[in-house]
Amino acid sequence: CILIIDFGSQVTQLIARRVREAGVYCEIAPFGSAEAALDRLRPKGVILSGGPASVTLEESPRTPQRVFEAGVPVLGICYGQQTMAAQLGGRVSPSDHREFGRAFVEVVEHSALFDGVWQVGEKHQVWMSHGDRVDTLPDGFRIIAHSEGAPYAATADEARRFYGVQFHPEVVHTPDGARLIANFVRHVCGLAGDWTMAGFRDAKIAEIREQVGKSRVICGLSGGVDSAVAAVLIHEAIGDQLTCVFVDHGLMRLGEAEQVVSLFREHYGIPLVHVEAERLFLDGLKGLTDPEAKRKFIGKTFIDVFDEEARRIGGADFLAQGTLYPDVIESVSFTGGPSVTIKSHHNVGGLPERMKMALVEPLRELFKDEVRELGRELGLPEAFVGRHPFPGPGLAIRIPGEVTKERCDILRKADAVYLEEIRKAGLYDAIWQAFAVLLPVRTVGVMGDGRTYDSVCALRAVTSVDGMTADIYPFDAAFLSAVATRIVNEVKGINRVVYDYTSKPPGTIEWE
Ligand code: XMP
Repeated sequence: CILIIDFGSQVTQLIARRVREAGVYCEIAPFGSAEAALDRLRPKGVILSGGPASVTLEESPRTPQRVFEAGVPVLGICYGQQTMAAQLGGRVSPSDHREFGRAFVEVVEHSALFDGVWQVGEKHQVWMSHGDRVDTLPDGFRIIAHSEGAPYAATADEARRFYGVQFHPEVVHTPDGARLIANFVRHVCGLAGDWTMAGFRDAKIAEIREQVGKSRVICGLSGGVDSAVAAVLIHEAIGDQLTCVFVDHGLMRLGEAEQVVSLFREHYGIPLVHVEAERLFLDGLKGLTDPEAKRKFIGKTFIDVFDEEARRIGGADFLAQGTLYPDVIESVSFTGGPSVTIKSHHNVGGLPERMKMALVEPLRELFKDEVRELGRELGLPEAFVGRHPFPGPGLAIRIPGEVTKERCDILRKADAVYLEEIRKAGLYDAIWQAFAVLLPVRTVGVMGDGRTYDSVCALRAVTSVDGMTADIYPFDAAFLSAVATRIVNEVKGINRVVYDYTSKPPGTIEWE
């Protein structure tokens, strides 16, 4: 596999994406734990990421020297190129010509990195983002491409198979970048490019069997894609040694709880305990209006219920979770300051400490879209696999103010109408997440000859890559108007519909 050493670039995960798209397995390690990762993975090649620090400063991070002594190819990107140059005897200095954004490099020498992609004499667009630059190369290195602002835009020591690029091949604004990365991992590192989801599935099944042996495993289902894929995979591995527990807090969308139960029990024949805890959750939510108080209550109660159920089932040594790769990677922070809690996320993250069980986390190495692909590989229905994300606290955070059964029912109906229209219009897959919000505001309307005084419903739809930033989905007015008409006509309790035009930031995707 390939090891990516992370120096804190915003786009390190994109390097991993490109490597896997080339059919090669890789993992990311923060620079601080790179030595341990080197021993554990024994990679066939190493990629050094970019990062915000400056090599010209004494205390800035370095690549473990062993990386350069391991006899494997190394590709340094931006900061990675600079630490490589500095550590191998070259020199890096702060540049007075700062280059950001689009730039053009000219290829001046042939290199294995460019094989079949770039020829000598050609000019190609790349994406630069840097202040410092290499200005004396270490022995053995030659310039293979240059640009106006960066005479050392790409450098290589073909004998040792060390490469450095000052631009970012991992971003889409370097149009040939993915092919350069594929060249590095396949041609230079000699990896076959045969990593596939089917292969991953088989390897994981073997690994789960090995880890679990004859023990029993318990898995919490949330109704979402991740926990469902984890459960189905584990069931393929160990059959009925797995028991799934679905804590139904009554805050799911219309028909969702029934779907999960029938998918698992009927379609897959996986043992499933359906804990119907709606009353417990709604009783506890009575009188709670503060968003954080609602989130904390739901998170804690979820863990309580799950824990109790696990005890009742008894005998499980392992807890299975659908943890994904982005939750696992330690983020590399240079600011050091504490970050502000915007929202307390409800995840089953609190469970392992409480239950003292060993973890089975078969999706730890995967990105969200890879989990979807694995789900398809496991035969999960497309409608389930392609579902929009849904937050753990469910509808409770889409009903600002107090949550009641009545308000949940109203929201479920409005949300179902909205999503049905989105599906009918063929827009579902173009949207990251779409949902209705029920506001604690009543306004006056007129219906037939009568006055109405009912709730306002807000519609939200966003596009996003990872949920960290989001843009509103630009529906046309006719679509929104049709949805508004249907909701007001069909959902008793709502007489006005508005559309949320706020991007993230400054808004968040959910309203609480
Ligand atoms: P925000 O509202 O913070 O949401 O912009 C970003 C993404 O996270 C989802 N979300 C959650 N997911 N537990 C989850 O598993 C939570 O407590 C939670 N809160 C928000 C949200 O739906 C969006 O996709």
